[in-house]
Parts: sequence; structure tokens; C-alpha cells
Amino acid sequence: MDIAHEISRRRTFGIISHPDAGKTTLTEKLLLFGGSIRSAGAVKSNKIRKTAASDFMEIEKQRGISVATSVMSFEYRGQLINILDTPGHRDFAEDTYRTLTAVDSVILVVDSVKGVEEQTERLMEVCRMRNTPVIIFINKLDREGRPSFELLDEIEEKLQIAVRPLTWPIGMGRGFRGVYNLREQNLYLFQAGKTVVENDRILVERLDDPMLENLLGSAADQLREDVELIDGVYEPLDEAEYRGANVAPVFFGSALNNFGVRELLETFVRLAPTPTPRDSDLRTVQPSEAKFSGFVFKIHANLDPRHRDRIAFLRVCSGVFRKDVAFHHVRQGRSIRFSRPYSFMAERKAVVDEAYPGDVVGLYDRGDLKIGDTLTEGENLVFRGIPSFAPEIFKELVSTDPMRSKQLDKGIQQLTEEGVAQLFIQDRGRRKIVGAVGELQFEVIQYRLTNEYGAACRLEPLPYARACWLTSDDPKVLAEFMRYRDRQVAYDRDRRPVYLAESEWMLRSMIRDNAKVMFHFTSEFKTASSGETDEDSASVA
Ligand code: G4P
Repeated sequence: MDIAHEISRRRTFGIISHPDAGKTTLTEKLLLFGGSIRSAGAVKSNKIRKTAASDFMEIEKQRGISVATSVMSFEYRGQLINILDTPGHRDFAEDTYRTLTAVDSVILVVDSVKGVEEQTERLMEVCRMRNTPVIIFINKLDREGRPSFELLDEIEEKLQIAVRPLTWPIGMGRGFRGVYNLREQNLYLFQAGKTVVENDRILVERLDDPMLENLLGSAADQLREDVELIDGVYEPLDEAEYRGANVAPVFFGSALNNFGVRELLETFVRLAPTPTPRDSDLRTVQPSEAKFSGFVFKIHANLDPRHRDRIAFLRVCSGVFRKDVAFHHVRQGRSIRFSRPYSFMAERKAVVDEAYPGDVVGLYDRGDLKIGDTLTEGENLVFRGIPSFAPEIFKELVSTDPMRSKQLDKGIQQLTEEGVAQLFIQDRGRRKIVGAVGELQFEVIQYRLTNEYGAACRLEPLPYARACWLTSDDPKVLAEFMRYRDRQVAYDRDRRPVYLAESEWMLRSMIRDNAKVMFHFTSEFKTASSGETDEDSASVA
């Protein structure tokens, strides 16, 4: 098998949006183009809907669906496209951030009525942090939305990225007539209610062609003016700038009506990067390297509580992943093999014999894998860039049934390994503090501990607002710091010391008063002794 060819035909991207912008609908339409699904409605949403906040059965059901739709692969014009879905709900943002570590580019969906929303801004920050190229799809043009130029300005300002429209809408809402493809110079007319897969495109080589009046009536002049303005204001798309994450191509359409989606898909397959190199603690790993390497970015528990196995999602970074071949589990320092790895072609899971860079494989796991684990063909490298983010809400986990405290320990251990929330330990394990970014995560934890592990518990609010990982060049200084603040310090799942601050003010004064202690805002930092700097940490000299 020709690895170079397999790499060159792969595109792995994440689809992100604020909830309800149309991410699920767009995903479904993309899969329809690939012929992976036959009918609309086949892709269920990977989202915990707002209304479901206290409806646990609904959460469970959706959690199940989210396994099926976490990764979807389809072929389009000889290319293999891997879509990684992300939960839009703010409370599951960590899951989204981690998924973004496994993609090479992103399609961002924006609702034309609502414009850039809060969650969109947060997600875009993660893309910026990682220099991930972004294509934007402005959706719901069949509704009365905001003026297109205004939306583009808002995107540039709030998302801090230059834009370049590649299609342009003609009207909107009831007056929506279609989109003009600025690159190919053709017009695609909209017919309400007709959800087409094959487009009826009309080539309009010159915008002063009087045919335009016949087709668009009075909207023809507006289109001419708009196109003139676009060409005056926006630079032609520089593909290298897109791949460098400096400019985002923009498309307009209506996912629900499957309108403008083909333009998006065709440009995506032409422009989007093939699997990119990945940084490890030792060196940068190129996808074309002969030896296999990959990392786990997501773990999902089996929904059936009688089976304790889990599914680990592994992104292949280099070489070929093979079924039944022993690979090196770097953290555990031993070999591990998988007899039933599977791929995620939409609507079906299939056992795969081989997977290539850019692919995501699902691995059955009985507790050997954690998020961030690296597998290789022997080299002791660890992929970077899969950090834990500092949680914002903290609660103490208290067992309400002393007979089941072992089950509670095991349950919280496993749930935190899945990445549902983070666990911090105080008092040699006697006090368990759960840290999360949203309340919904706590509800899921309590429900699952009770139902899957039979461990009754309650979660008591704690006054902490921020967690920082601690290091110091001088172990004595760190030990001293820890000793005097036993209520403010804890250990994370890897026994690393963490400072729990009650407020930003407290944290700042701690940083100021302890110049020899380093405070890190994500769990991934380089040790001071390595001599490297860490932008994500603070100490005041
Ligand atoms: P999400 O995954 O980003 O959260 O959004 P999703 O695709 O579920 O879409 C949210 C709602 O917006 C859905 O309506 C969906 O039908 C609608 N929608 C998506 N694309 C378009 C579009 O181009 N035009 C219009 N007018 N609506 C669109 P819903 O009523 O919340 O759900 P459903 O009952 O239709 O599933």
C-alpha cells in the first residue's frame, strides 16, 4: 500500500459551532454528498440539548448517539474525509478542545441571524492557539438574517481572523434567490423547499450579461454592486495564508435546504490540508514516516453498565496502524495490541485492518488507555498539545453510602480518565475534589456514579475558582509552599501538585509572593529544568 498516496487523499477536520447554528444539519448534508448516508435525518445530533439539562435519560441517550457520530468518514471524489464532530454545549467545551487536537482543519458554522456567538469565540481561540486553518459557513440564509457585509466585519473583529468570501448570497429570508460563486463565476438559484443534491448551476461569465436581469430581476444590480465591493475590499484568496490560519474563506448557504453546501465541500477538498505533522516532546513527527505513531484524544465509556470496556479514539499521526500488531504503549512502557480496532464510516462501524495518518480508530479498552496516551512502534515519544484545561467550578465528592466507597473511587477514577471532569486529591486520597467547566458535567457524573457504579454520592460546592499546576526549580521551595497551604493544594490524577485559588485576586497575589514557584494554567508545561520557556505559565521575578 502506498502510504504517500493514502496520506495525500485524506482530509481530517472538525466541525464546530455555537449550539443550534446548524452543525448537525451541515454534517448530514456533507455525508449525503459522499453517498455515505441515503436519507436526511440519519445523523443524530451529538449535542446535549439545553432542555435536557436535568433529563438524565436524555443525556444518556445523547451520549450514546455521540459515540456513533463522534467521527464520520466518507469518500468524495477519491478523497477520504474524516469529520470529527464536537459538542457545541459550553459545559462540554473540554471535549471539544481535545477533539480539535486531532484535526488538521476546521469548518466553523455561523448562524446568519445570530452572527458570532459566545461559544464561537471560545472555539476560535482554540483554533488560533493551534494555528488550525478555518473555513466558515454562514448558515440559514433562508431566514431574515443580518446583512452579509456586517457579518463579515463581525467575524473579522470578534474572531480575529481575516476573511475572504468565496460565494455571495443574493438576498436573504423570503427574498433569498441563491448564491453566486465568485471563483467559478456561476450562479446557483435557490428554490425554497427543494432539497437538491445535484445543483442546477447557471454560468454567468460576465456580471453585465442582461441574462442576469431575467434571472434575478432587481437583485441583479445589487449583486453587481456587491461583487465590485468585495473585489475592492478583500484580497484574492491566498491559499498559503489559509493554510497558515491567517485568512478564512467564507461560504453562504442554507444547510437545511442543502444549498451552498456543495460549493463548500468542493473548495474544502481542494484547499484543506492533508494530515499535518504533530509535535512530540522529542521531535516533530511527520505523517510520512514509516513507523506508526498516534495518540488518544477521547475516551468513551460503554453505555451498557454490565460491560466495563470503553472506546478510546486514537488519531494516527504517522505510519500505518495495523490490527493485531503489538505497539508500544509509551506511558505504561509495555506492548499492547488490538484485535478489533474499528473505523467510523457513517451509519456503520467496521473492523479495520489498517489505518493511515489522519484516520481515527476506535479501540476497545479495559482501562489501559488514558486521554493523551501515545502509542508508537517503539520510540519513547509523547505527543504534546493535549492538555487539561484549568477547571472553573469545584465540588467535593462525598459518598453517602459507606458500603460502596470502593465503587465510588473506581467510578470517579474511570470517569475522570474519560475526561468527563478532572479529579484532584487532598489528604492522601481522603478528600476528592472534582473540577469542571460547567454544571452539566457534575450532573452527568452524579448520575453515572449512581447508575453505572451503584455508588450513591453528593457533590458539595467548594469556594475555589481556579486551578493551577505548580512546579519549582527547587523541590524544597515547592514542598514548603505545599506544607503551609494544605487547604489550597491538591494533587491531580498524575500526582502533580495543583494550587486551588479562591479568586483571581488570590491567585495573582500568590504568584507575586512566591517568585520561585511556577504556576501553570494548563496541565501541559515544560519543566523549568528543560530550559524551555512556557508561555502558558506565570511567575513574577
Ligand atoms: P447544531 O448541531 O449546530 O446544534 O444545529 P442543528 O443542525 O441541530 O440545527 C439547529 C436548528 O436549526 C434545527 O432546527 C435545524 O433544522 C435548523 N437549521 C439548520 N440549518 C438551517 C437552515 O439552513 N435554515 C433554517 N431555517 N434552519 C436551519 P430545530 O427546530 O431546532 O430542530 P429540528 O427539529 O429541525 O431537528
